[in-house]
Amino acid sequence: MSARLTPILILSFLSLLQPAQMVKHENFKTCSQSGFCKRNRALADRAQSAGASWTAPYELDGKTLQLKDGVLTGKIWKTEAGGIELPLEVSLFENGVARVTIDEAQRRTGEITLRHDSKARKERYDGAEKWALVGDHKCQKTATMETKEGVTTVAYGPDNYEARITHKPFSVQFLKGGEVYIVFNDRNLINVEHWRPKIEKAEGEEPTEDEETYWEETFGGNTDSKPRGPESVALDITFPGYDHVYGIPEHATSLSLKETRGGEGNYNEPYRLYNSDVFEYETDSPMTLYGSIPFMQAQKKGSTVGVFWLSAAETWVDVIKTKQNPHALTTEKASTQTHWISESGLLDVFVLLGPDAAWVYRQYGELTGFTTLPAMFSIAYHQCRWNYVSQDDVKDVDRKFDKFDIPYDVIWLDIEHTDGKRYFTWDPLTFSKPESMQKTLARRDRKLVAIVDPHIKNDENYAVDKEMVAKGFGVKDKGGEKVYEGWCWPGSSHWVDCFNPAAVDWWKSLFKFDKFIGSTPNLWIWNDMNEPSVFNGPETTMPKDNIHHGNWEHRDVHNINGMSFHNATYEGLKIRLGSGKERRPFVLTRSFFAGSQRSAAMWTGDNQADWPHLQQAFPMLLANGIAGFPFAGADVGGFFGNPSKELLTRWYQAGAFYPFFRGHAHIDAKRREPYLAGEPYVSIIRDAIRLRYSLLPAWYTAFHQASREGMPILRPHFVMFPDDEAGFAIDDQFFLGGTGLLAKPIVKESATKTTVYFPDDQVYYDYFDHTTYHRKGHHEVSAALEEIPLFMRGGHIIPRKDRPRRSSGLMKYDPYTLVIAVSSEGTADGVLYVDDGETYAHQSGAYIHRAFTFSYGDNTLRSGNLHPEPAKAAAYNKDMRSVRVERIVIVGIGKEWAAKKVVEVKQGSKTWKAKIVYTEGKDGKANTAVVRDPKVSITKDWSVNFT
Ligand code: GLC
Repeated sequence: MSARLTPILILSFLSLLQPAQMVKHENFKTCSQSGFCKRNRALADRAQSAGASWTAPYELDGKTLQLKDGVLTGKIWKTEAGGIELPLEVSLFENGVARVTIDEAQRRTGEITLRHDSKARKERYDGAEKWALVGDHKCQKTATMETKEGVTTVAYGPDNYEARITHKPFSVQFLKGGEVYIVFNDRNLINVEHWRPKIEKAEGEEPTEDEETYWEETFGGNTDSKPRGPESVALDITFPGYDHVYGIPEHATSLSLKETRGGEGNYNEPYRLYNSDVFEYETDSPMTLYGSIPFMQAQKKGSTVGVFWLSAAETWVDVIKTKQNPHALTTEKASTQTHWISESGLLDVFVLLGPDAAWVYRQYGELTGFTTLPAMFSIAYHQCRWNYVSQDDVKDVDRKFDKFDIPYDVIWLDIEHTDGKRYFTWDPLTFSKPESMQKTLARRDRKLVAIVDPHIKNDENYAVDKEMVAKGFGVKDKGGEKVYEGWCWPGSSHWVDCFNPAAVDWWKSLFKFDKFIGSTPNLWIWNDMNEPSVFNGPETTMPKDNIHHGNWEHRDVHNINGMSFHNATYEGLKIRLGSGKERRPFVLTRSFFAGSQRSAAMWTGDNQADWPHLQQAFPMLLANGIAGFPFAGADVGGFFGNPSKELLTRWYQAGAFYPFFRGHAHIDAKRREPYLAGEPYVSIIRDAIRLRYSLLPAWYTAFHQASREGMPILRPHFVMFPDDEAGFAIDDQFFLGGTGLLAKPIVKESATKTTVYFPDDQVYYDYFDHTTYHRKGHHEVSAALEEIPLFMRGGHIIPRKDRPRRSSGLMKYDPYTLVIAVSSEGTADGVLYVDDGETYAHQSGAYIHRAFTFSYGDNTLRSGNLHPEPAKAAAYNKDMRSVRVERIVIVGIGKEWAAKKVVEVKQGSKTWKAKIVYTEGKDGKANTAVVRDPKVSITKDWSVNFT
């Protein structure tokens, strides 16, 4: 097929290349332009005006209820249209999670007919769990059920949980210790739009307003044929007593979610989850973005709970808050009411009752998987732009980083490196020697990332396209036979269908070294445009009536599309070295869903080089972190436009605290590699990047904890201090893992100072000069351009590596510095996790896991082992035996330490002395002492006695 661009397409293509000022609202639907959202919101409005007389026509048939092995089943009747049977299943997992699933009987059994002779499946989509969930979720066989006066109570869970199910109208209260935490259908907004035949209207008869959007919807010149008619599912979920809700990324909004039904300071639109390439997205908006994780948490003093709404279809969520007591004089908003609306699929919701955030994150991780432990290089600094134009350009940038003594680990190639946007190829003129280029990078243990997008150039001379089309591995158009053709970077394109297991196997094979010629084991992959972005498609994506493997409509699987693609890439990278030689793959994805954390990192897409976008990044990254996907970053410097030097510098200081830390820029943006900034900026940026490198041991330990327990890497206040309501809305400062480091990078122009909030009466030390803060509350701190407000909470021991190197790989055997931030009580502890940073040997025990403890009581710092099976670490320990602690810094000690000249070190059966040097802190700074070269090994138990 020819790949000629029509004039209109050229124009729309060019508009994607040219930075404009604002998002094009007209390209994306509002709720009222999306039939199912409009219908469900209208239902909510009718309920609101009807008040107490409103009820939902959904009744649970008590006689059908059965509880067997922790699963309750029964039938709900929708008492309209002669009665519609909706099978209900409530699964009570052993870990305390409850799952409520509602299906539609006539669609399960296929007793429906589709319009337009569609080949689409008749069932409600039930495949989301295959993509999102992992593990074997055992149900709690000991759960019990009792029915009294139309209410069935199921007792389950480790902590006196109860699901109290009212039959008529159907509603569920989730309780713990007799207190209600979450309510389903509290406001009677439940709605399952059942299948119905289209009844043609007699001449002159007007369709109802609802019916207008039942059968067909046109937006922006694209018509959705909707072969199954209306099929949305909706439910209201109330969190009584909770005044903050968080999560449901990805939105450019505050961490604590605003209300969405108008009023001062609120949004007028629901939060939308429909993965889209939103060109020049705006900040402070509930508009949809590139990825979605329908996981929400609610917070009140001392309690965190969560709900996970498992739908891969377009979803909208309204949030409103009500006062608990309408007669109260305070304006306190005590309950949060949410309304979830999805276009198709099952109604499928998981309830996580806490009691605290750590529990909720562990439970969510047990459901969808914990974040994968990344390779060390991937949490260091990445240098990208659209585009490094040739291999010489790449080598030049590589040299300049060295010349200016700025560390970096990875350089990136955007779409222009290919031969005419044919992925897995190289431009023959500009990248004629890709292997030798990668070899040059490897000299300093640096890596290359190349982009591979899911749109495959429609070109029968391109082997990838030819094979994909011949094997039927492309997504099909609505007829279900022909491969779908649309427009993206290469012009006319086809899209690989990673819902097809055979297509996935084929895709994986493309990364083999004999297929992806010119790639080496140091090349990793960037998956972009995988929402998927289709320049001429409805809302810049694929038509909803396109057909995927298994005859599922695109509508049913849309939000999983991106994840299906990056999962396949991850698997391909994992196997290319051969069994037993696997390296942990690095894949960056723009589109994501619940479960993406198992195989990819994400970034927040095409932000802009302005202050509002710098400010917006932290709330977005925090939201991603608490939704189980913490390996997240934003383009440092801003993608569109040219940052001022001040903005660029501040962005690097902020980026040093992004779990994924990458500088990136649009093709039209001026070059802005950090060494180009001129002084004093280059030095300040260098310091920020070096700070990241020196704290890599702490970052890696935080990633390890996330990979085991689900705790976020950037931890918001509500997670760390669940009783401190004053911190619940804070999203411009955060803690780094469990290190006690509290950061508030500057995101405002011309700042010379800022206000930091300390959430408790513990002592906090300025990380750099050890200024001491003793009081809970707001403190003004200095924040000149070269300063990053960063504090150590007393009571923590922070592992660092302080020798500047060119890349993280070169730091592997470098010695450690331990910084002890002594608490008001005279204690401190900390954790360090170390492994080879690239293979899977840690899964067989090849790692170091140490607990450091310090107490004034016995004046001793100890290193103890946390590895449960130390014998399995023997070979690794041997490799690491020369790695020592070269410095111990003790911050916040009494004057009596001035008299100490030596400390006693004990390791195994040996003891020796090391020097200690005391410095008195002046002008509100803490006293400190430094032990130089105690010569203790990072692999061993030891103690340092300061008495
Ligand atoms: C998309 C990406 C951006 C990339 C560009 C070209 O806009 O979001 O990061 O540089 O495509 O591939």
